[in-house]
Amino acid sequence: MSALPEPALPTPKLRLLYSPEQIAARVAALGAHITRDFAGQPVVLLGVLKGASIFLADLARAIRLDATFDFLAVASYGQGTYSSGEVRLTKDVDESLHDRNVVLVEDILDTGLTLSYLRTVVQAHHPRALRLAALLDKPDRRRVPIEADYAGFTIPDQFVVGYGMDCAERYRNLPGIYLLAE
Ligand code: IMP
Ligand code: MG
Repeated sequence: MSALPEPALPTPKLRLLYSPEQIAARVAALGAHITRDFAGQPVVLLGVLKGASIFLADLARAIRLDATFDFLAVASYGQGTYSSGEVRLTKDVDESLHDRNVVLVEDILDTGLTLSYLRTVVQAHHPRALRLAALLDKPDRRRVPIEADYAGFTIPDQFVVGYGMDCAERYRNLPGIYLLAE
């Protein structure tokens, strides 16, 4: 039986920004930080689908606490690579967040509109504590004042893919984070 040809990797348009090893080291540090901050207490890791799914999976295994998972999904109106700013919830949480320690886990903090909106959604549940974790932070793009409590890497205003992040649903499964050339 002859081997199937390797699928062509879309590498020409991609430039490595963070290797899997660099990401793993940073995620381990964030996990240790969360473990210290909530020492001995249970936490709910609340991921924002789909982009944060891989970050959440790795972050969860770097946290030495009693942790449960839940997920939110949002859609932003309009097309294009960036969110339009008008966000709507397409999947709400499964369990009540009342009196829980919640870590909202997002891939990128960009304009801040998505996380500001989701923070309001979560706050309506009256959690005991709410912290924001974002793997990437693009402070230059911020349109509303919001900061992550746990931020992985600060990057300039450039579009990235991989490690859960997409461009038109592609590239989420790349193990590193890449700059997507125009
Ligand atoms: P915000 O509401 O502008 O903060 O948008 C955050 C969301 O926009 C993220 O959760 C991503 O889904 C998306 N996003 C922003 N920048 C990028 C990027 O460089 N690559 C992939 N998605 C991005
Ligand atoms: Mg996203």
